[in-house]
Amino acid sequence: MNTINYRSIAIFIIPLLTGAVSTYFIRVWARNRAWDDFDNVQMFEKIADFRILGGTDLADRLRARAIPNQRLVTTFDIHSSFTTMDEAVHRHFLGESISVIHEMRPPRWFTFSTVADEALNQVLTHFEYPQRPLPLAKMARPFAFITMLYPLFGVMPANVNLDDAIQVSEEINYIWVESKREPIPDLRENKERLQDALRRLLPDKYPCTAEENPINIIMPAYETMWRVVLHTFLAAGFREVDQETEQQFREVIENVPECLTSNSLNDAGIMAINFAKEGLRLYPPTQRINRAIPPQQPNQQPTQVSANIQEAHRYTSIWGADVLSFRPSRFGPEKPPSAYMPFGAGRHRCPSAKDFAYKAIIIQVVALVRRLGIRDGGAKVRFNDPVLDNDGRALMPMGRMDMEGWTMEVGRGD
Ligand code: HEM
Repeated sequence: MNTINYRSIAIFIIPLLTGAVSTYFIRVWARNRAWDDFDNVQMFEKIADFRILGGTDLADRLRARAIPNQRLVTTFDIHSSFTTMDEAVHRHFLGESISVIHEMRPPRWFTFSTVADEALNQVLTHFEYPQRPLPLAKMARPFAFITMLYPLFGVMPANVNLDDAIQVSEEINYIWVESKREPIPDLRENKERLQDALRRLLPDKYPCTAEENPINIIMPAYETMWRVVLHTFLAAGFREVDQETEQQFREVIENVPECLTSNSLNDAGIMAINFAKEGLRLYPPTQRINRAIPPQQPNQQPTQVSANIQEAHRYTSIWGADVLSFRPSRFGPEKPPSAYMPFGAGRHRCPSAKDFAYKAIIIQVVALVRRLGIRDGGAKVRFNDPVLDNDGRALMPMGRMDMEGWTMEVGRGD
């Protein structure tokens, strides 16, 4: 009798105990993980905002940023805030960027939207869409490049030679990809072709010194832009999202650009900006921010440290269980968590972070939707990748070469 009682008690108690113990350990693990994530974010912030160097002056900060970016000097001849150790060059470049941004007073976003529509028309005609499948990355590059020529240089699409624009955007992409090789191949001819095409597109800017070369501002303003525009367009329009996001995206399509053209944003404007914010969270174009820490001894090399922005944007402990879903409504009216660093952090945060970049992104995304539609509108995106093509929730990769096989076709009822 006694044996039977013990056995039934054991049958009842053992699973309970096992459950309780494993729940306890899972909780401890999750809490430690959350602490680790929080520690990592703090470390990434310290790297991005230069506190990692200890007390700094501008010269130290410029050196810490310029050393890891020297590749850009060799390959593109960039002389800007990103590559210079000269305080005057930095101040001048920053001032120029800030004046581009200030020039875009709210009503000019109407013109920006028309410019984006015209730029897209030109590019789609070139690629003979919809008669032929549209190579998405090859389309997105000149589209964003021609559009950005308006705020950067006041150039309208009607005055842009499309072949030159395609040449610039393709050479930039090629040089960027090739410059990641070890050793870096000889890219002088590509750089010359790039400069020749820029000279034809922007004759007023030449002749110029290395510091005045238009490539300096084109790189931060356009090179980040085309990738996040393409990813946001696809994430909102062609990947699986929840119903709320689907409904909100329809409203954004209806309200952009009007909702972005007054001095203070109404609810529709905030919703539109949140789509750009979420695109930058899930697919930040600057995935890492690198700094060189000065050596302890004079004969040593500096150490390179990295703030992993993409990782900080994907911590479940910070963003919630749906961290990998595209859900713009996660951004409320309050400031995003400090883990949100698509524009860096602290004193050298990107000057376009206040609203310029968000508006430029969402207006270009909506221009794409107006011409190319979204998932229910007949157009079909093919990633030519078994995972992405079969699982609508899988994250899209962000490497430049990963996007080359992505195409769009007008659906044929399949
Ligand atoms: C999607 C758009 C953009 C993204 C994601 C982006 C990202 C960034 C990031 C991550 C930094 C910090 C770099 C560091 O700490 O080393 C930065 C700085 C900077 N960005 Fe942007 N950027 C964008 C658009 C622009 C545009 C449109 C301009 C100019 C019109 C611009 C000009 C600058 C400048 C001048 C700095 C240096 C600021 C300083 O040193 O104080 N960026 N950007």
